[in-house]
Amino acid sequence: MAPAHDRLRRLVLLLVVATAAAALLLAPTTADAALPRVQHTPTKADGSLAILVVGDWGRRGQFNQTLVAQQMGVVGQKLDIDFVISTGDNIYDDGIANTSDPLFKESFSNIYTANSLQKPWYLVLGNHDYTGNALAQLDPAIRKVDSRYTAIAKSFIVNSGIADFFLVDTTPFIVHYWNNTKFDWRGVAPRDTYIANLLKDLKCALTASKAPWKIVVGHHPISSACGHGNNTELEELLLPVLRRVSSRDSRLQLLTSGGGSKAWAGKFKPTLDKVEFLYDGQGFMSMRLSRTEARLAFFDVAGSVLHCWTMHAQKLTTTTTAAAARH
Ligand SMILES: *[C@@H]1O[C@H](CO)[C@@H](O)[C@H](O)[C@H]1NC(C)=O
Ligand SMILES: *[C@@H]1O[C@H](CO)[C@@H](O)[C@H](O)[C@H]1NC(C)=O
Ligand SMILES: *[C@@H]1O[C@H](CO)[C@@H](O)[C@H](O)[C@H]1NC(C)=O
Ligand SMILES: *[C@@H]1O[C@H](CO)[C@@H](O)[C@H](O)[C@H]1NC(C)=O
Repeated sequence: MAPAHDRLRRLVLLLVVATAAAALLLAPTTADAALPRVQHTPTKADGSLAILVVGDWGRRGQFNQTLVAQQMGVVGQKLDIDFVISTGDNIYDDGIANTSDPLFKESFSNIYTANSLQKPWYLVLGNHDYTGNALAQLDPAIRKVDSRYTAIAKSFIVNSGIADFFLVDTTPFIVHYWNNTKFDWRGVAPRDTYIANLLKDLKCALTASKAPWKIVVGHHPISSACGHGNNTELEELLLPVLRRVSSRDSRLQLLTSGGGSKAWAGKFKPTLDKVEFLYDGQGFMSMRLSRTEARLAFFDVAGSVLHCWTMHAQKLTTTTTAAAARH
Protein backbone atom coordinates (compact mmCIF):
# COMPACT_ATOMS: atom_id res chain seq x y z
CA MET A 1 0.00 0.00 0.00
CA ALA A 2 1.39 3.38 -1.02
CA PRO A 3 1.97 5.90 1.77
CA ALA A 4 -0.61 8.15 0.10
CA HIS A 5 -3.20 5.48 0.77
CA ASP A 6 -2.32 5.36 4.40
CA ARG A 7 -3.07 9.00 4.71
CA LEU A 8 -6.42 8.70 2.96
CA ARG A 9 -7.46 5.71 4.91
CA ARG A 10 -10.43 4.69 6.97
CA LEU A 11 -12.61 7.54 7.95
CA VAL A 12 -16.20 7.51 8.85
CA LEU A 13 -18.95 9.56 10.27
CA LEU A 14 -22.44 9.09 11.43
CA LEU A 15 -24.37 11.98 12.77
CA VAL A 16 -27.55 11.83 14.72
CA VAL A 17 -29.83 14.78 15.12
CA ALA A 18 -32.27 13.88 17.82
CA THR A 19 -35.23 15.92 16.85
CA ALA A 20 -37.94 15.75 19.42
CA ALA A 21 -38.60 19.32 18.41
CA ALA A 22 -38.76 18.56 14.72
CA ALA A 23 -42.27 19.89 14.44
CA LEU A 24 -41.11 23.24 15.74
CA LEU A 25 -38.48 23.47 13.07
CA LEU A 26 -40.85 22.79 10.27
CA ALA A 27 -41.88 25.28 7.73
CA PRO A 28 -44.41 23.95 5.22
CA THR A 29 -42.39 22.83 2.28
CA THR A 30 -43.41 22.94 -1.32
CA ALA A 31 -40.09 22.74 -3.13
CA ASP A 32 -39.22 19.09 -2.64
CA ALA A 33 -35.55 18.36 -2.17
CA ALA A 34 -33.71 17.08 -5.17
CA LEU A 35 -32.08 14.23 -3.30
CA PRO A 36 -33.41 10.86 -4.46
CA ARG A 37 -35.29 8.78 -1.91
CA VAL A 38 -35.72 5.15 -0.94
CA GLN A 39 -38.77 4.12 1.07
CA HIS A 40 -37.91 1.46 3.60
CA THR A 41 -41.13 0.55 5.36
CA PRO A 42 -40.50 -0.70 8.90
CA THR A 43 -41.72 -4.26 9.41
CA LYS A 44 -41.92 -4.39 13.19
CA ALA A 45 -45.42 -3.78 14.54
CA ASP A 46 -44.32 -0.94 16.84
CA GLY A 47 -42.50 0.84 14.03
CA SER A 48 -39.14 0.47 15.73
CA LEU A 49 -35.95 -0.08 13.76
CA ALA A 50 -32.82 -2.12 14.32
CA ILE A 51 -29.80 -1.30 12.20
CA LEU A 52 -26.15 -2.24 11.99
CA VAL A 53 -23.53 0.32 10.97
CA VAL A 54 -20.12 -0.57 9.61
CA GLY A 55 -17.50 1.20 7.53
CA ASP A 56 -14.02 0.71 6.08
CA TRP A 57 -14.45 -2.94 5.24
CA GLY A 58 -13.89 -4.43 1.75
CA ARG A 59 -10.58 -6.27 1.93
CA ARG A 60 -11.44 -9.74 0.59
CA GLY A 61 -12.01 -10.88 4.16
CA GLN A 62 -8.55 -9.89 5.31
CA PHE A 63 -7.65 -7.87 8.42
CA ASN A 64 -10.46 -9.60 10.32
CA GLN A 65 -13.16 -8.44 7.92
CA THR A 66 -14.55 -11.99 7.96
CA LEU A 67 -14.61 -12.15 11.76
CA VAL A 68 -16.41 -8.81 11.99
CA ALA A 69 -18.86 -10.00 9.33
CA GLN A 70 -19.62 -13.17 11.29
CA GLN A 71 -20.32 -11.21 14.45
CA MET A 72 -22.49 -8.79 12.52
CA GLY A 73 -24.45 -11.84 11.45
CA VAL A 74 -24.90 -13.01 15.04
CA VAL A 75 -25.91 -9.58 16.35
CA GLY A 76 -28.05 -8.94 13.28
CA GLN A 77 -29.99 -12.12 14.05
CA LYS A 78 -30.43 -11.24 17.70
CA LEU A 79 -31.71 -7.75 16.94
CA ASP A 80 -33.72 -8.82 13.90
CA ILE A 81 -32.23 -5.97 11.90
CA ASP A 82 -34.08 -4.04 9.24
CA PHE A 83 -31.04 -2.99 7.24
CA VAL A 84 -27.33 -2.23 7.30
CA ILE A 85 -25.68 1.15 6.80
CA SER A 86 -22.19 1.41 5.38
CA THR A 87 -20.24 4.57 6.10
CA GLY A 88 -17.96 4.09 3.09
CA ASP A 89 -14.56 2.83 2.03
CA ASN A 90 -16.57 -0.12 0.85
CA ILE A 91 -13.90 -1.64 -1.38
CA TYR A 92 -10.15 -1.23 -0.83
CA ASP A 93 -7.80 0.02 -2.11
CA ASP A 94 -9.41 1.64 -5.15
CA GLY A 95 -13.09 0.74 -5.22
CA ILE A 96 -14.16 -1.42 -8.15
CA ALA A 97 -13.24 -1.09 -11.82
CA ASN A 98 -16.70 -2.01 -13.16
CA THR A 99 -19.86 -3.79 -12.03
CA SER A 100 -18.41 -7.20 -12.88
CA ASP A 101 -15.14 -6.64 -11.01
CA PRO A 102 -14.58 -9.87 -9.00
CA LEU A 103 -13.40 -7.74 -6.09
CA PHE A 104 -17.01 -6.84 -5.40
CA LYS A 105 -18.10 -10.40 -4.66
CA GLU A 106 -14.85 -11.21 -2.91
CA SER A 107 -15.18 -8.25 -0.56
CA PHE A 108 -18.97 -8.09 -0.13
CA SER A 109 -21.20 -10.95 -1.32
CA ASN A 110 -18.87 -13.74 -0.21
CA ILE A 111 -18.16 -12.13 3.16
CA TYR A 112 -21.49 -10.93 4.57
CA THR A 113 -23.18 -14.28 4.12
CA ALA A 114 -25.18 -14.57 7.35
CA ASN A 115 -28.95 -14.84 6.97
CA SER A 116 -29.58 -11.77 9.07
CA LEU A 117 -27.42 -9.65 6.75
CA GLN A 118 -29.50 -10.51 3.66
CA LYS A 119 -31.19 -7.12 3.98
CA PRO A 120 -30.69 -3.91 2.07
CA TRP A 121 -27.34 -2.25 2.62
CA TYR A 122 -27.52 1.53 2.25
CA LEU A 123 -24.09 2.87 1.42
CA VAL A 124 -22.11 6.04 0.93
CA LEU A 125 -18.80 6.10 -0.88
CA GLY A 126 -15.50 6.75 0.86
CA ASN A 127 -12.33 8.20 -0.62
CA HIS A 128 -11.10 4.69 -1.45
CA ASP A 129 -14.24 4.05 -3.51
CA TYR A 130 -13.54 7.28 -5.37
CA THR A 131 -10.08 6.24 -6.57
CA GLY A 132 -11.65 3.49 -8.64
CA ASN A 133 -14.72 3.69 -10.85
CA ALA A 134 -16.90 5.65 -8.42
CA LEU A 135 -19.95 5.36 -10.66
CA ALA A 136 -19.85 1.55 -10.79
CA GLN A 137 -20.99 1.21 -7.17
CA LEU A 138 -24.04 3.36 -7.98
CA ASP A 139 -24.89 1.54 -11.19
CA PRO A 140 -28.17 -0.43 -10.96
CA ALA A 141 -26.27 -3.29 -12.64
CA ILE A 142 -24.44 -3.87 -9.35
CA ARG A 143 -27.76 -5.03 -7.86
CA LYS A 144 -27.91 -7.77 -10.49
CA VAL A 145 -24.70 -9.04 -8.91
CA ASP A 146 -25.98 -8.55 -5.34
CA SER A 147 -29.47 -7.17 -4.79
CA ARG A 148 -28.63 -5.83 -1.32
CA TYR A 149 -26.19 -3.19 -2.53
CA THR A 150 -28.21 0.03 -2.43
CA ALA A 151 -26.35 3.21 -3.28
CA ILE A 152 -28.89 4.76 -5.62
CA ALA A 153 -26.91 8.01 -5.84
CA LYS A 154 -23.88 9.56 -4.20
CA SER A 155 -26.23 11.33 -1.79
CA PHE A 156 -29.74 10.08 -1.08
CA ILE A 157 -32.37 9.70 1.63
CA VAL A 158 -33.82 6.59 3.23
CA ASN A 159 -37.26 7.26 4.70
CA SER A 160 -38.06 4.64 7.30
CA GLY A 161 -40.98 5.76 9.42
CA ILE A 162 -39.59 7.05 12.71
CA ALA A 163 -36.22 7.82 11.14
CA ASP A 164 -34.98 9.56 8.03
CA PHE A 165 -31.42 8.78 6.98
CA PHE A 166 -29.56 11.37 4.94
CA LEU A 167 -26.62 9.78 3.17
CA VAL A 168 -24.16 12.50 2.24
CA ASP A 169 -21.24 12.25 -0.17
CA THR A 170 -18.40 13.82 1.86
CA THR A 171 -15.37 12.96 -0.30
CA PRO A 172 -15.69 15.96 -2.67
CA PHE A 173 -15.50 18.33 0.32
CA ILE A 174 -11.90 17.39 1.05
CA VAL A 175 -9.78 19.90 -0.83
CA HIS A 176 -6.53 17.98 -1.01
CA TYR A 177 -8.15 15.00 -2.76
CA TRP A 178 -8.64 17.28 -5.75
CA ASN A 179 -4.89 17.29 -6.27
CA ASN A 180 -4.84 13.54 -6.64
CA THR A 181 -5.32 12.38 -10.22
CA LYS A 182 -6.68 8.98 -9.12
CA PHE A 183 -10.00 10.41 -7.95
CA ASP A 184 -12.99 9.86 -10.24
CA TRP A 185 -14.77 13.22 -10.25
CA ARG A 186 -17.20 12.39 -13.07
CA GLY A 187 -20.52 13.98 -12.22
CA VAL A 188 -18.91 15.95 -9.39
CA ALA A 189 -16.58 18.60 -10.83
CA PRO A 190 -16.62 21.53 -10.38
CA ARG A 191 -16.37 21.13 -6.60
CA ASP A 192 -17.92 24.42 -5.49
CA THR A 193 -21.14 23.98 -7.48
CA TYR A 194 -21.49 20.36 -6.42
CA ILE A 195 -21.10 21.17 -2.73
CA ALA A 196 -23.38 24.22 -2.87
CA ASN A 197 -26.16 22.18 -4.50
CA LEU A 198 -25.68 19.26 -2.14
CA LEU A 199 -25.85 21.47 0.95
CA LYS A 200 -28.90 23.29 -0.36
CA ASP A 201 -30.71 20.00 -1.01
CA LEU A 202 -29.64 18.58 2.34
CA LYS A 203 -30.77 21.62 4.28
CA CYS A 204 -34.09 21.59 2.50
CA ALA A 205 -34.64 17.88 3.14
CA LEU A 206 -33.56 18.06 6.79
CA THR A 207 -35.87 20.97 7.41
CA ALA A 208 -38.79 19.24 5.75
CA SER A 209 -38.27 15.93 7.55
CA LYS A 210 -40.94 15.17 10.14
CA ALA A 211 -39.25 12.04 11.44
CA PRO A 212 -38.43 11.96 15.17
CA TRP A 213 -34.89 10.89 14.23
CA LYS A 214 -32.82 12.51 11.53
CA ILE A 215 -29.61 10.67 10.92
CA VAL A 216 -26.93 12.05 8.63
CA VAL A 217 -24.45 9.51 7.32
CA GLY A 218 -21.15 10.34 5.69
CA HIS A 219 -17.69 8.94 5.36
CA HIS A 220 -15.49 11.56 6.99
CA PRO A 221 -15.92 12.51 10.64
CA ILE A 222 -16.45 16.19 11.36
CA SER A 223 -14.99 15.89 14.81
CA SER A 224 -12.48 13.21 15.63
CA ALA A 225 -10.10 12.38 18.43
CA CYS A 226 -8.20 10.01 16.13
CA GLY A 227 -5.27 10.45 13.76
CA HIS A 228 -6.86 12.75 11.20
CA GLY A 229 -8.38 15.05 13.78
CA ASN A 230 -11.25 17.33 12.88
CA ASN A 231 -12.11 17.79 9.27
CA THR A 232 -11.89 21.50 8.58
CA GLU A 233 -13.84 21.47 5.30
CA LEU A 234 -16.76 19.65 6.94
CA GLU A 235 -16.56 21.87 10.00
CA GLU A 236 -16.86 24.91 7.77
CA LEU A 237 -19.42 23.68 5.26
CA LEU A 238 -21.48 20.77 6.58
CA LEU A 239 -21.59 21.36 10.33
CA PRO A 240 -23.39 24.74 10.08
CA VAL A 241 -26.18 23.08 8.07
CA LEU A 242 -26.57 20.39 10.74
CA ARG A 243 -26.43 22.97 13.52
CA ARG A 244 -29.21 24.93 11.85
CA VAL A 245 -31.63 21.99 12.04
CA SER A 246 -30.63 21.08 15.57
CA SER A 247 -31.55 23.22 18.55
CA ARG A 248 -31.33 23.31 22.31
CA ASP A 249 -34.10 20.73 22.35
CA SER A 250 -32.78 18.54 19.59
CA ARG A 251 -29.13 18.03 20.01
CA LEU A 252 -26.57 17.12 17.43
CA GLN A 253 -24.58 14.03 18.33
CA LEU A 254 -21.53 12.86 16.43
CA LEU A 255 -20.89 9.14 16.21
CA THR A 256 -18.26 7.27 14.25
CA SER A 257 -18.37 3.62 13.29
CA GLY A 258 -15.74 2.20 10.97
CA GLY A 259 -13.66 -0.79 11.89
CA GLY A 260 -14.99 -3.25 9.31
CA SER A 261 -11.50 -4.59 8.62
CA LYS A 262 -8.06 -2.98 9.07
CA ALA A 263 -7.76 -1.12 12.36
CA TRP A 264 -5.45 -0.27 15.23
CA ALA A 265 -3.99 2.90 13.74
CA GLY A 266 -3.01 3.92 17.27
CA LYS A 267 -3.11 7.62 16.48
CA PHE A 268 -5.02 9.93 18.79
CA LYS A 269 -5.49 13.66 18.86
CA PRO A 270 -6.67 15.80 21.71
CA THR A 271 -10.10 17.34 21.19
CA LEU A 272 -12.15 19.83 23.17
CA ASP A 273 -15.31 17.85 22.49
CA LYS A 274 -16.62 15.56 25.19
CA VAL A 275 -15.66 12.09 24.06
CA GLU A 276 -18.12 9.53 25.37
CA PHE A 277 -16.30 6.52 23.97
CA LEU A 278 -13.34 5.81 21.71
CA TYR A 279 -11.93 2.55 20.40
CA ASP A 280 -9.67 2.10 17.40
CA GLY A 281 -9.96 -1.66 16.90
CA GLN A 282 -12.27 -3.57 14.59
CA GLY A 283 -15.98 -3.75 15.12
CA PHE A 284 -19.35 -2.27 14.26
CA MET A 285 -22.26 -0.46 15.80
CA SER A 286 -25.93 -1.28 16.31
CA MET A 287 -28.74 1.25 16.57
CA ARG A 288 -32.14 0.45 17.95
CA LEU A 289 -34.57 3.25 17.40
CA SER A 290 -38.03 3.72 18.82
CA ARG A 291 -40.01 6.92 18.61
CA THR A 292 -38.63 8.03 21.97
CA GLU A 293 -35.30 6.35 22.35
CA ALA A 294 -32.11 5.50 20.46
CA ARG A 295 -30.07 2.70 21.88
CA LEU A 296 -26.57 2.37 20.50
CA ALA A 297 -24.06 -0.38 21.09
CA PHE A 298 -20.48 -0.74 19.89
CA PHE A 299 -19.20 -4.26 19.31
CA ASP A 300 -15.65 -5.54 18.92
CA VAL A 301 -14.29 -8.19 16.57
CA ALA A 302 -15.48 -10.96 18.90
CA GLY A 303 -19.00 -9.54 19.08
CA SER A 304 -18.56 -8.35 22.67
CA VAL A 305 -20.27 -5.12 23.61
CA LEU A 306 -17.67 -2.43 24.24
CA HIS A 307 -20.02 0.40 25.02
CA CYS A 308 -23.73 1.20 25.16
CA TRP A 309 -25.37 4.54 24.99
CA THR A 310 -29.01 5.60 25.13
CA MET A 311 -30.44 8.84 23.89
CA HIS A 312 -33.97 10.09 24.49
CA ALA A 313 -35.90 12.05 21.94
CA GLN A 314 -39.30 12.58 23.42
CA LYS A 315 -38.96 15.25 26.05
CA LEU A 316 -38.26 18.70 24.77
CA THR A 317 -36.09 19.24 27.82
CA THR A 318 -33.65 16.49 26.87
CA THR A 319 -30.12 17.79 27.10
CA THR A 320 -28.07 14.74 26.26
CA THR A 321 -24.61 15.75 25.18
CA ALA A 322 -22.11 13.17 24.27
CA ALA A 323 -20.08 12.07 21.35
CA ALA A 324 -18.89 8.60 20.61
CA ALA A 325 -15.90 8.36 18.36
CA ARG A 326 -14.70 5.28 16.66
CA HIS A 327 -11.93 5.02 14.14
C1 LIG B 1 -7.90 -10.05 14.46
O1 LIG B 1 -8.56 -10.30 15.67
C2 LIG B 1 -7.79 -11.03 16.60
C3 LIG B 1 -8.66 -11.29 17.79
O2 LIG B 1 -9.71 -12.14 17.43
C4 LIG B 1 -6.54 -10.25 16.97
O3 LIG B 1 -5.75 -11.04 17.82
C5 LIG B 1 -5.76 -9.90 15.71
O4 LIG B 1 -4.69 -9.07 16.05
C6 LIG B 1 -6.66 -9.19 14.72
N1 LIG B 1 -5.96 -8.98 13.48
C7 LIG B 1 -5.83 -7.77 12.90
C8 LIG B 1 -5.14 -7.76 11.59
O5 LIG B 1 -6.24 -6.74 13.40
C1 LIG C 1 -13.92 -5.30 -15.08
O1 LIG C 1 -12.82 -5.12 -14.20
C2 LIG C 1 -12.02 -6.27 -14.05
C3 LIG C 1 -11.02 -5.96 -12.94
O2 LIG C 1 -10.24 -4.84 -13.29
C4 LIG C 1 -11.40 -6.63 -15.36
O3 LIG C 1 -10.63 -7.80 -15.21
C5 LIG C 1 -12.49 -6.87 -16.39
O4 LIG C 1 -11.93 -7.09 -17.65
C6 LIG C 1 -13.43 -5.69 -16.46
N1 LIG C 1 -14.59 -6.06 -17.26
C7 LIG C 1 -15.09 -5.26 -18.18
C8 LIG C 1 -16.30 -5.77 -18.87
O5 LIG C 1 -14.58 -4.18 -18.46
C1 LIG D 1 -2.32 21.15 -4.76
O1 LIG D 1 -1.15 21.14 -5.60
C2 LIG D 1 -0.60 22.42 -5.83
C3 LIG D 1 0.52 22.26 -6.84
O2 LIG D 1 1.38 21.22 -6.50
C4 LIG D 1 -0.12 23.01 -4.51
O3 LIG D 1 0.39 24.28 -4.70
C5 LIG D 1 -1.32 23.09 -3.55
O4 LIG D 1 -0.89 23.52 -2.29
C6 LIG D 1 -2.00 21.75 -3.41
N1 LIG D 1 -3.23 21.93 -2.64
C7 LIG D 1 -3.62 21.11 -1.66
C8 LIG D 1 -4.87 21.49 -0.98
O5 LIG D 1 -3.00 20.12 -1.33
C1 LIG E 1 -13.30 19.54 16.75
O1 LIG E 1 -14.64 19.83 16.50
C2 LIG E 1 -15.43 19.84 17.66
C3 LIG E 1 -16.88 19.96 17.24
O2 LIG E 1 -17.08 21.07 16.43
C4 LIG E 1 -14.96 20.97 18.57
O3 LIG E 1 -15.73 21.00 19.77
C5 LIG E 1 -13.52 20.72 18.93
O4 LIG E 1 -13.02 21.78 19.69
C6 LIG E 1 -12.68 20.56 17.68
N1 LIG E 1 -11.35 20.12 18.06
C7 LIG E 1 -10.26 20.75 17.66
C8 LIG E 1 -8.96 20.16 18.12
O5 LIG E 1 -10.31 21.72 16.93
